Amino acid sequence: MTETQFTPRVFSGIQPSGGLTLGNYLGAMKRFVDMQGPEFETIYCMVDLHAITVWQDPAALSHNTRELCAGYIAAGIDPEQSILFNQSQVPEHAQLAWIFNCVARMGWMQRMTQWKDKAGKNTQNASLGLFAYPALMAADILIYHATHVPVGEDQKQHLELTRDIAIKFNNDFGVDFFPVTEPVIEGAATRVMSLRDGSKKMSKSDPSDMSRINMTDDADTIARKIRKAKTDPDALPSEVKGLEERPEARNLVNIYAALSEQTVDQVLTEAGGKQFGAFKPMLAELAVSKLSPISSEMARLMGEEAEIDRILARGAERAREIAAPILQQTYAIVGMVGAGKS
Ligand code: TYM
Repeated sequence: MTETQFTPRVFSGIQPSGGLTLGNYLGAMKRFVDMQGPEFETIYCMVDLHAITVWQDPAALSHNTRELCAGYIAAGIDPEQSILFNQSQVPEHAQLAWIFNCVARMGWMQRMTQWKDKAGKNTQNASLGLFAYPALMAADILIYHATHVPVGEDQKQHLELTRDIAIKFNNDFGVDFFPVTEPVIEGAATRVMSLRDGSKKMSKSDPSDMSRINMTDDADTIARKIRKAKTDPDALPSEVKGLEERPEARNLVNIYAALSEQTVDQVLTEAGGKQFGAFKPMLAELAVSKLSPISSEMARLMGEEAEIDRILARGAERAREIAAPILQQTYAIVGMVGAGKS
């Protein structure tokens, strides 16, 4: 099956499970913005059903969902052009996920590294939702017949599973119904690392706030975190090869490249030979100039809760217009009596 029979459509999602980090911004959100345009229909989601696979305080979940919506818009997602909504308000996601729970195999889920990391040693006490998480993710994508999914590198395995689910469904029922989706994992910042440890991903769940830049950090905090970022004593190399075995240096150069929309080669042409004492202030200035307008716009939008709720409700309506017929066709393929009549 080729993708060409499907409308070029982008889907991606972010969990409203806490503050947005620079990793989310560079690995995902900024690239979502870049994909808006005539080439694709773009659908972006706050995946609140995924967030509750681990405990979320209800008031915090509502706050974080609205803040994430504000973040999307402040970063440049246009809610007229793109469809912007929260997952729970389009019930077809959970309905298709159930079908996929019956297509996917236990063994596939057990191999997921995110499951192993998040469940830890005590798998018996993890939620059933956390185990089934990737089937819901496949449903998020395939309920729109999305063809392209921009994500950071940590989601690659889940997207491979999405392809496996689509292929198995099509084979089991002898149809060419679900597209085999393309992951779009591109650019200098598909894996932004912790500022304290270049071998660990930058993450909102890291206990040290100094390990990450939050999209809500003010200019002084951003500059301080970059100044204190772990580095090595050597000067920057003038070629990419010189960054091998230097994870912290590579991370800061990658961040610089992604923020300035240059390649790593271009950055090293400009910055090669500089010590970190000179490079860090350049990076701090760049980061503040790119992130401050986003964080102030987020703060402004957070003062307009009714407007955010209106945007989310309208987005959910538009999303359902695409999702509802695809769910009914899926039910009809599976043999559910009454399907296709809504
Ligand atoms: P989540 O909420 O953990 O992260 C959202 C997006 O941010 C990217 N990301 C990063 N990229 C680079 N460096 C980092 N340090 C970094 N940290 C996070 C993630 O790769 C992701 O693209 N399962 C998904 C949410 C999801 C989804 C979907 C994504 C649910 N359904 C359907 C795409 C399509 C997740 O937990 O992302």
